[in-house]
Amino acid sequence: MTLDRAALEEKKTEFLSRFGGEAPPRIYFAPGRVNLIGDHTDYNGGLVMPIATEQGTYLAWRPRDDPRVNIYSHGLDKETEFDLVNIEHQGDWSDYLRGVILMLKENGISLKGWEGAYFGDLPLEAGLSSSASLELVTALALSDESNHQPPQELALLSHRAENEFVGVNCGIMDQFASALSQEGCGLLLDCHTEDHQQVELSPLSSTAIIAHTGVTRKLSSSPYNQRRDECQKALEMVRSEYPEKVDLSQLDVPEWNEIKENLPQLYRNRIEHVIYENMRVKKAAEYARQADPKGFGDMMVGSHRSLRDLYEVSTTELDALQDISVKQSGVWGARMTGAGFGGCVVSLVDNSFVNDYLDRVPDEYLDRTGRKGRFYVTRPGRGMHQVEVSD
Ligand code: GLA
Repeated sequence: MTLDRAALEEKKTEFLSRFGGEAPPRIYFAPGRVNLIGDHTDYNGGLVMPIATEQGTYLAWRPRDDPRVNIYSHGLDKETEFDLVNIEHQGDWSDYLRGVILMLKENGISLKGWEGAYFGDLPLEAGLSSSASLELVTALALSDESNHQPPQELALLSHRAENEFVGVNCGIMDQFASALSQEGCGLLLDCHTEDHQQVELSPLSSTAIIAHTGVTRKLSSSPYNQRRDECQKALEMVRSEYPEKVDLSQLDVPEWNEIKENLPQLYRNRIEHVIYENMRVKKAAEYARQADPKGFGDMMVGSHRSLRDLYEVSTTELDALQDISVKQSGVWGARMTGAGFGGCVVSLVDNSFVNDYLDRVPDEYLDRTGRKGRFYVTRPGRGMHQVEVSD
């Protein structure tokens, strides 16, 4: 969380003047995420290790006695009103929360009407999961108290909302990171079993710097779903040899070596990325435990190459920013993060070199690409929670 108490108090006051009444709203927060390693593995049943960002989405929330929902987005300066009985697809930002409402209802949770004001400090369409944070902050507010649900359940139903209601076929990484992350830790998640472990990152004595290329993209209009289809086709090819496999991550290297020559190059590349990316995630977690930032950074660099050359989701801007970042003193590793096609690079920077990075990289990036990057320093933050603000 990066907003201080005064800023939150101000939002509460604004809430009262917008919606009237005297009862103060409660405030909830759900973070975005930056993935340290393991991309395009989640929907292939593989491993990921994101951290929650300190930046995220806040919701000032208050229940109503009727079934109306009145919401306002500070970021977009837009108001919306609808009835809980009738949840319809709108094709706009409110679909994320409408989808969550629908899934809660389908899970048998009875909901009352409410009013809510959304605000936050997470850049939109930057690959930092602003949509997952919007889903989870809503799910948390609506399921609190009498409707309490475990965080994992809220992550799963938010994921379903995005897949089935919004229509983006994303994996589970973003929702799990926003719901379950712990301060100071990476979330090592097996997306097949949904088992997860908290990996302490302080032994690396490093900071994650998020560098936004300045190129935004919407997941829904990117080739993301196309990559998913390619993996589905690749899996069908694999299953003609190994019918017991339910996802690409179940292939081990000897099994892969047996069949890879027979596959068309494009599918071969996609599968190869998934198999070796999973191995890099596993190794990166070991390097964190062994306090070896160099080892961790090498895994990040390997991951970037694979996403660029085998999975083909990087861009000229991402490659430039990654290349400039890894050449700086004190940078252990850097890679594009998230889906790609625009968005951000994440660098692992020795704590004592953070200022040097911030002094140099913005200008070098501007010189090389003519674009103005945006830079965010984040510590591994805490997952979704209610924020205590005095009344
Ligand atoms: C997006 C999706 C995630 C994941 C990443 C790529 O962020 O929402 O589920 O697939 O892309 O790793």
